[in-house]
Amino acid sequence: MAINNEMERNYGETEGYGQPLVTSSFTSEDENEYSLRPKTLSEYIGQKKAKENLDVFIQAAKLRGEPLDHVLLYGPPGLGKTTLAGIIANEMGVNIRITSGPAMEKPGDLVALLTNLAENDILFVDEIHRMNRTIEEILYPAMEDYAVDIIIGKGPSANSIRLTLPRFTLIGATTRAGSLSAPLRDRFGVNLRLELYSPEELCFIVKRSAGILDVPIEESGAMEIARRSRGTPRIANRMLRRVRDFAQVRAGGVITQKVASEALTALEVDDLGLDNIDRRMLRAIIEFYNGGPVGLDTLAATINEDTVTLEDMYEPYLLQQGFLTRTPRGRCVTQRAYDHLHIPFEGQPQQSLF
Ligand code: ADE
Repeated sequence: MAINNEMERNYGETEGYGQPLVTSSFTSEDENEYSLRPKTLSEYIGQKKAKENLDVFIQAAKLRGEPLDHVLLYGPPGLGKTTLAGIIANEMGVNIRITSGPAMEKPGDLVALLTNLAENDILFVDEIHRMNRTIEEILYPAMEDYAVDIIIGKGPSANSIRLTLPRFTLIGATTRAGSLSAPLRDRFGVNLRLELYSPEELCFIVKRSAGILDVPIEESGAMEIARRSRGTPRIANRMLRRVRDFAQVRAGGVITQKVASEALTALEVDDLGLDNIDRRMLRAIIEFYNGGPVGLDTLAATINEDTVTLEDMYEPYLLQQGFLTRTPRGRCVTQRAYDHLHIPFEGQPQQSLF
């Protein structure tokens, strides 16, 4: 499998050690994660449902000698959408070209990628919801008829010519399936939702990564990292590297539960994986909005963070862990949030019906 990475890493994050541990967006340090990425479905841990379905679709496409149907992968950042796209290419035995919605600036960028594909190749578009509309419209005939329509000339003498493309597979990845236009969403034959990982699955991933990095780790040390990495392999692998530093300097190189716990506490990640921003979010809802409901934009302004960051990166885990609920009138915290922050819970004020 050849990987041709067209993507400008454009994820708006500061890089390396100064970067918050818990962010689940991609950073330059994660480029090293490439070596940790599984290459086959059987090596890929978790996402049982998505994996089982994909296995059937891949085998069927190979038996028929056809490209795989277009695939949409969606779910919170850091769960392995790019990894899965690479695995699909590997299992299909085809090339993958990687780009992202924001990296394509003009229709010609996409046309160039499409016309350079070979039969059955994969085009992976990360953050596909951020592609601009004129570029998106090129994808419609490309996905449906394997063709692009190019307009030559201007005004009354303009002519449209149709270029035939090789049969290919588009894999789109998004953190927000709801932001995709209906015509684009409808053109994907396979929709796979990736879920947050369980601590047990993350523990496997941490031990596998520690093996590849040649870091000695005890089962309880791996579990400590897993429990605090908020359901996200990218965060687990990043924590593993930071904990390894602490282990080398303070504990003779072995990652034990004690050193993992001390390292992550020093990095201000609490025992459930919440960081400063999570705690500020919950605390602000309690202190300024009496437990909620409060709209996400208002909350983001209150704690001086970006709405999209809160919605994509912070909310999914807080919702999954039962710290937060989403209501039509905004976000509310639960008693669990009060308990976790050691704030006395006096019951939510009764909502008036009038
Ligand atoms: N590294 C990152 N994600 C992984 C996964 N799902 N399985 C195995 N290793 C991983």
